[in-house]
Amino acid sequence: MLTEITAARDAALAEIAAAVTLDDVTTLTTRLTGKKGALAHLKTRLGSLESIDDKKSAGQAINEALSSVGNALEARRATLGEEALARQVEAERLDLTEFVGKPTRGHAHLVTQAWERLEDVFIGLGFQVAEGPEVETDWHNFEALNMPIGHPARGEWDTLFVDHVPPGGEPGTTVLRTHTSPVQIRTMLESEPPIYIVAPGRVFRRDTPDSTHMPVFHQIEGLVIDRDITMADLAGTIEAFTKAFFGPGWTSRLRPSYFPFTEPSAEFDIQRPDGSWIELGGCGMVHPNVLGAGGLDPEEWSGFAFGFGIDRMAIMRHGVADIREMFSDDIRFVEQF
Ligand code: FA5
Repeated sequence: MLTEITAARDAALAEIAAAVTLDDVTTLTTRLTGKKGALAHLKTRLGSLESIDDKKSAGQAINEALSSVGNALEARRATLGEEALARQVEAERLDLTEFVGKPTRGHAHLVTQAWERLEDVFIGLGFQVAEGPEVETDWHNFEALNMPIGHPARGEWDTLFVDHVPPGGEPGTTVLRTHTSPVQIRTMLESEPPIYIVAPGRVFRRDTPDSTHMPVFHQIEGLVIDRDITMADLAGTIEAFTKAFFGPGWTSRLRPSYFPFTEPSAEFDIQRPDGSWIELGGCGMVHPNVLGAGGLDPEEWSGFAFGFGIDRMAIMRHGVADIREMFSDDIRFVEQF
């Protein structure tokens, strides 16, 4: 019996040594240490041995054999596991030295590209570039734009108030600007007409992101103040801009609308070459109260203003279906432009 046990053990150890995959080891574990294994079978024959001593020594030999088979299986599993891991690491190895010396050239973000292109187009039309702060006073963002406290039109803007009280000011009077229109007021207060400016910048609203909205987005404001400016000047400027920015196949239209700071007011839509229309922004003739807040005499000066979404222009120009794509960190998207 002892010879049979040694033979069964040696056969098992040979098989284990020959296992080449972790699956082989699993199959062997079941076969060699399970109830149907050769050693288990020998155990069932212990009862047929005559002397107690023979039973004892054979039983002990079987247990020792089972334990060395178990250890061998464990050791083989560990070795094969390490080898498999090493192979996987080798296969997935990223040789960073491959990139050394070959820097890839990046490019400006889509919104930055649109922003810079807009500036170029408007500078070409004779405008100057102005800017204003992103954290604004309620007065510049609303009141001076003909929206006193309590004015219902304030409800159209999902405003983010900043927990900051300016020296000598009131609590709740500092906002993240909801539009670039406060730059109109700052420009009128700081410079003499004639004024021909555009003011691109970041704006903030408590808007839930969807395919056409972001809570942080970008607008470009336009302001023209001169003598005898009419709605025709506004329409002509917008049409010239549309063709210059989007291309000759595109056209624009003004649709009657309402903004407290312009009178009359209009929405500015553009028509894609496929015939469909899309709203890009608002515009109108600067309201006399706004000219007054800017320190100008409405009898002497008149002007127009517009404000449109830069992010929307970028998606329009490049045929991007969802505005959120532009702010994802997917390099495959970014690299297309
Ligand atoms: C305004 O903000 C006015 N200040 C525009 C204006 C300026 C009118 C001067 C008259 C004179 P409105 O809330 O409609 O208007 O926003 C203007 C444009 O910003 C929209 O047409 C759209 O293109 C863009 N926009 C608005 N909300 C979002 C948003 N959450 N995400 C991305 N773009 C937006």
